[in-house]
Amino acid sequence: MTKVISIMTQKGGVGKSTLTNAIMLDWCFRDLLRTKKMPKMLLIDADAQASISRLRLRDIEFCQMDMGGKEFASLNETVQTAVKEVRAQFAALFSQLNWRYYNIFSVRPDDDGETRRRAIQLIESGEYDYVFIDMPGSLHQEGTAELFTCINFLIIPVYIGSYDIQSSLDFCGIIKGLKDTTIAEVRCVFNSYEVLKGAKFDEIERELHALTGVPFFKTRVKRTSFFSSRSYNSIVPPTYRMNLNTLEVVSMSRTTNVGELTDEIKKLVK
Ligand SMILES: Nc1ncnc2c1ncn2[C@@H]1O[C@H](COP(=O)(O)OP(=O)(O)OP(=O)(O)O)[C@@H](O)[C@H]1O
Ligand SMILES: [Mg+2]
Repeated sequence: MTKVISIMTQKGGVGKSTLTNAIMLDWCFRDLLRTKKMPKMLLIDADAQASISRLRLRDIEFCQMDMGGKEFASLNETVQTAVKEVRAQFAALFSQLNWRYYNIFSVRPDDDGETRRRAIQLIESGEYDYVFIDMPGSLHQEGTAELFTCINFLIIPVYIGSYDIQSSLDFCGIIKGLKDTTIAEVRCVFNSYEVLKGAKFDEIERELHALTGVPFFKTRVKRTSFFSSRSYNSIVPPTYRMNLNTLEVVSMSRTTNVGELTDEIKKLVK
């Protein structure tokens, strides 16, 4: 049966899209390494900004760019190198994943619910093992509630600024107040964790848990550079690279501990 997972909160910029993409890739790649098989995954990108879809579109554009053409020639050297690198990586990824295993479906806000209905059909088709939904921050946005009612596992990313805590509290309150949902489990997860401020995080975890009853994942996703400020950022973060000769994923999770979170999520949804 298809399991629907969403990393969601009403607060903007806390890493919903980043974590969603990182967890999905991590899950696919590590299953591939361990078992030579991957689950079928779908990302429903319902975020109005369509961050992940746009990133992938740009990747595809780069993959298709004519390297002998004017457009390529007009890019500066750093970008040209990045385009070459992305093309090589993606050629390998496409041949390996064929994107069948990590499909992205974009819900458009301006089509009278057509793509939203299609997204729900995709969930109900049973074609996928896991569907992640990158939800908009507000449940009030039109059509959001329909998608929301498909979610089985809700993961709330938490930052530690004081407004963020209030916002997490409010959001947990809203979730707990909902009736007739299909949500089986709710978890909070710290994103951008800083070891030096560990005690502060402990305190907030205790407080939030006491007030809302929502438990935290043990893993706290560290503040790391998923993406590099120096090179081109494709949808595949630089932490995931493939050996282009053997088509094996060679360097993984060296700088991020997202893998540990993925493992906890896998256990939770089993
Ligand atoms: N663990 C992390 N360490 C460092 N930077 C992070 C981390 N998680 C997210 N970021 C950065 O924070 C910024 C916001 O992340 P992201 O776009 O994923 O948030 P969001 O919740 O999806 O935002 P929005 O509400 O706009 O959809 C991005 O620049 C992202 O690279
Ligand atoms: Mg986002």
